[in-house]
Amino acid sequence: MTRKKIVAGNWKMNLDYNEGLSLFSEIVNMVKDEITGQQQVVVCPPFIHLHSLVQLAKGTDKVAVGAQNAHQKESGAYTGEVSAKMVKSTGAAYVILGHSERRQYFNEDNQLLSVKAEVALSNGLKPIFCIGETLDEREAEQYFDVIKTQLKEGVFGLSTEQFSQVIIAYEPIWAIGTGKTATAEQAQEIHAFIRNEIADNYNQEVADQTTILYGGSCNPKNAPELFAQLDIDGGLIGGASLKSRDFLDIVKVFN
Ligand code: G3P
Repeated sequence: MTRKKIVAGNWKMNLDYNEGLSLFSEIVNMVKDEITGQQQVVVCPPFIHLHSLVQLAKGTDKVAVGAQNAHQKESGAYTGEVSAKMVKSTGAAYVILGHSERRQYFNEDNQLLSVKAEVALSNGLKPIFCIGETLDEREAEQYFDVIKTQLKEGVFGLSTEQFSQVIIAYEPIWAIGTGKTATAEQAQEIHAFIRNEIADNYNQEVADQTTILYGGSCNPKNAPELFAQLDIDGGLIGGASLKSRDFLDIVKVFN
C-alpha cells in the first residue's frame, strides 16, 4: 500500500508570532534529527505565521505548512478574510477545511465547504477535509449517515483528479479537546466505512490511495494503537501539536 502517512498539527488560535516561530523551529530540528520514515509532517498555524514557517521549513521536504481555513471567493470586499490564492502565495501547501469548530462557530455547512474545496484545489492547495459526528449523533447511532452526507455533499462532487489531492480527517466532535479518544476499533470502523464510500463514489484505486487521518485527543500514548489500524493513515493533532516533544513522538509512530 503506497498511500501517504501524514501527521498534521492544528494549532488553532494559539501562539503569538514569536512563540509560533520558536515552536516550529524546534519541530523542524527534531524532524531532521529523529524522523527516519517517509511520513509527511504538516503544521497548520494561524495565517500570521504561514510565510515565516514556510521559510523555516526550507531545506526539508518532510515538513510542510498549511492554513486552517481559506475563503470561498477568489478575492473581493470581504473584510478580514483570506483567500486560497493568498494562502498559496505564502508557500503553504495544505488547508484544513470543514473543521467542526468552523462548522459550529462560523456556520460552515457542507454546501459552502464544497465550494471552499473547489476553490482551494483550483489554487493548488491540498484540502484536509474534516468530517465527524456529535455525541448526540453517535449515541443515536446516526454516525454513518452523518459521515456519508458530509462526504457526499462536501467532497464527492469533485472530479477524480481533484479528489486525489484531498486528505480526509475523521474527527468525532465528542473526542476533540475532551481527552476522550475514540477507541482504535471505533475509529477503524469509521475509517473503513469512509474508504468504502470513496470506493463506491470513485473507485477502489482512488479509495486505496486516499489518506484518512484520525483527530480527537490523539496523544503519544494512544497514537501507536490508532495508527496501527488498517485504514488510519495518521492524525490531525490539536493540543498535543503545541508541545514539540509530544508532537514528534506522535510523528515517530511511523518511523
Ligand atoms: O484538528 C485537531 C483537533 O480538533 C483535535 O484536537 O486537541 O483533541 O487533539 P485535540
